[in-house]
Amino acid sequence: MINDVEVQNKNDQPSTQPETQGKKHLIVTEINYRNNSESDYTEKIEQLEKSFNYSDNSNHYWSKPELSILYGTPLYAEASDSQKIALNHIYWATQYSQVAASEANTILFNDVTNGVFLNIGGYDTLCKELELESSQERHHIHAFHTISYKTKKALLGKAAFSTPLETQSKTVKNQLMKKSSNQDVQKFFNFDWLISSSSALEDSVFRLLKNIRLKTKAHCYSDYLNELEKKELFLPAPRTGIIRVFPRYLVRLFILSWGSSSFLASQYYCFRYIANMMLKLVEYEYTKYSRELEKKDEFIPTPTEVSRYHLLDESFHTTTSRLIAQDMYKDFSQPTDYERFMGNLSVYMAQKGLLNGLSGGLPAIFQDDSCFILAYYTLLRSPLFDMSTQDALHWLKKCLCHEHDGFHVNLKYHQRLSTELRHFFSQIDYIWSVNREMRLMSHGGSITKAIQKNIKSFEQFSKSLEN
Ligand SMILES: [Fe+2]
Ligand SMILES: [Fe+2]
Repeated sequence: MINDVEVQNKNDQPSTQPETQGKKHLIVTEINYRNNSESDYTEKIEQLEKSFNYSDNSNHYWSKPELSILYGTPLYAEASDSQKIALNHIYWATQYSQVAASEANTILFNDVTNGVFLNIGGYDTLCKELELESSQERHHIHAFHTISYKTKKALLGKAAFSTPLETQSKTVKNQLMKKSSNQDVQKFFNFDWLISSSSALEDSVFRLLKNIRLKTKAHCYSDYLNELEKKELFLPAPRTGIIRVFPRYLVRLFILSWGSSSFLASQYYCFRYIANMMLKLVEYEYTKYSRELEKKDEFIPTPTEVSRYHLLDESFHTTTSRLIAQDMYKDFSQPTDYERFMGNLSVYMAQKGLLNGLSGGLPAIFQDDSCFILAYYTLLRSPLFDMSTQDALHWLKKCLCHEHDGFHVNLKYHQRLSTELRHFFSQIDYIWSVNREMRLMSHGGSITKAIQKNIKSFEQFSKSLEN
């Protein structure tokens, strides 16, 4: 068992003349920072946010139809044209609620790791780039919240923000209140999906980590953490965004670890790269759609344009993640066992929590549908579909527990992302094979397994309505 790990990095000394000067990743960082500073994509997103009015965009698809909730299901085949467009818009709104939460995580971890890079010295341009990225994220988050809010309000009314159970019969309402809460539905529409943290692996990791004491050289310790200590504040432990894949104790341990070591501060960008690529997977489709409309000289919906400009802004951020995660970590000494373990654990947990399944109702989401059943049910009971309890259950079963085109569409996205990530991690020497080969993700890319999990979840859910 590891009892005491000292982080020692031979190149971690503060430096005004960094040994790293002239390195390729520093040159690319200079170019990336210059291009990002000179771009006006964030300003374009701000203008689009200000001009957004749902009714002006309500009659148009915001992407090709396959980026819609319940796309490819038997219900989608029977939905009216207006219901199909609504499902397309709700997909955008839910996706970007989740993106906003993940970008709030990014701001936090940019601060934590930037504090390390500033103290090491020699990475001035990179530090300025991270500050610029955080300020861009603040504008992105504001735009996503505004557009998502207006969209959900127009399409779902109270169901998206307040009690969705008001209109249901007393019996069903009581049962649902026992099994869940209105918060669950609100969390769904904000994509705040809870991940179980009770596996044997996590328990054993917790026991192991309780015995670890990370010693760090004072000059490496992030100013962000120093400031928290000075103010006697607790470490933050956000429960939304992609950081939710970690149980709370691990969020705090990762904040300490990513903020205490030059190697681990660099390694955080592997985790961030996974988020970058998950987003790129869908934003690339919005961008293609926007270009097609532009070529045909047709109306381009505002959210589609926001996605397009966001992809452009995020391309700078993705470059930053790649440079730090694949190249910059080599500026420091070989990772200790503890650093290697924590670095790999973050990628493993991302696979386990975000990439280990296949949704039948949410394209480009790689979790099974157990977290979403109540929300699908609420959607079917909402005025958009206005179904009875029996009809809603009938359609839920047809959509989640049988093979349909939606699973195959999602599998295509799954394979695309899996290939990208395997390529990315093949360039990193300290990565465990389970992460290099994205084995948990590959394991989750099975329609048969997804349906089996959904059958169990559906049975539990329908029983909860009967009792
Ligand atoms: Fe962003
Ligand atoms: Fe970003």
